[in-house]
Amino acid sequence: MKIAIGCDHGGIVLKPSIIQTLQSRGIEVEDFGCYDESSVDYPDYALKVAEAVSTGKCDKGIVLCGTGIGISIAANKVKGIRAGVVHDEFTAEMISAHNNANIIAMGGRIITPERAAKLVTIWLDTPFQGGRHENRVAKISAIEDKYFK
Ligand code: RB5
Repeated sequence: MKIAIGCDHGGIVLKPSIIQTLQSRGIEVEDFGCYDESSVDYPDYALKVAEAVSTGKCDKGIVLCGTGIGISIAANKVKGIRAGVVHDEFTAEMISAHNNANIIAMGGRIITPERAAKLVTIWLDTPFQGGRHENRVAKISAIEDKYFK
């Protein structure tokens, strides 16, 4: 498995612990930046990660900003992306079990690096439940088909 990761200056604090955790599980990581705490625009990094996932270059993605909100909104503008913010064990589990998210977002001003790494592990270890949730995710795709060019 290969995972894309990207962040802005508000999320960069979470990146090292996440990368370390992924690599310790034998997962390949492509780091799309940013690489220091200089102020940058989170949509630029959301786009890099979302394109890597939507094209199949990477299997899943992780995006990080101050809250996780802005960078997840931007990632969701790319067709085929289901991104959402997680901040605790329950949301990390549900975002896979019910939403089959291919990108998760977290906030560097919300959670600690240790928590972020744990939430990534929960997301990866939780299978999509399918069933009634399959139908709901298909309806999300139908909205994309209606409105995306
Ligand atoms: C940057 O200051 C901040 O706005 C950004 O990291 C994020 O929280 C946006 O949603």
